[in-house]
Amino acid sequence: MTHADLTPHRVYDPLLRLLHWTIALSVVVLAATSQLAEAFEHGPEETALWNIHLIGGYSLATALLARLLWGLVGPHSARWSDLWHPATWRGLLRLHVPSTQRAGHDAVASLAYLAAYAVMAMMAASGLGLAAVEFEAGPLAAWLAGAEWLEDVLKAPHEVGFALLLGFIGLHLAALVFHQLRGERVAQSMVTGKQYLGTEHGARHD
Ligand code: HEM
Repeated sequence: MTHADLTPHRVYDPLLRLLHWTIALSVVVLAATSQLAEAFEHGPEETALWNIHLIGGYSLATALLARLLWGLVGPHSARWSDLWHPATWRGLLRLHVPSTQRAGHDAVASLAYLAAYAVMAMMAASGLGLAAVEFEAGPLAAWLAGAEWLEDVLKAPHEVGFALLLGFIGLHLAALVFHQLRGERVAQSMVTGKQYLGTEHGARHD
């Protein structure tokens, strides 16, 4: 199919795109500062790096909360229902991969997005707990400051979640590059809000 056969569809609204980029930027800042703070442990930069890490965490938690609400009240392609495709996921078990592209979130990728949201929510919750316990900072400080026993309990899932998120980012970027190399303009849709789909299936919203 040539580009001339493709019709533009308006999908991702401006708030959804703003939240995507806030989440992506927050995750990159959080990953970078956590690694740098460990590399500069006991150095003069360590406190500043953890402070930036906490700011990245507040930004991620706020954006996730906004995304949760937008998924309940936002337009069609922002709704949680647009990420919910159990029939397609069951088909994957029979090695059946959908051959047509739908308007809105990719049905297979949606499974990874939901998993990534679950991991990010767990990271935000354990991170806010660690901020309270280790730095007496953040919205949970009034309840958790001084509860040192929580430190080890929260650190383990926070570290596992970090590894899982790195895996998701690698997969997400690899999938976007794969589509780009096949001449499918998927990545630009989170910038422009438009998807270019073939006329025969472009209107599918299932
Ligand atoms: C740290 C980096 C990133 C993270 C954590 C991330 C996370 C996510 C998540 C959670 C979704 C689901 C969005 C939703 O709730 O509606 C998503 C979708 C999407 N992301 Fe990213 N993203 C990252 C980087 C990027 C980059 C660099 C691009 C390229 C421009 C991109 C393009 C897209 C597109 C096009 C979709 C929708 C794909 C579809 O139609 O299924 N993302 N991303």
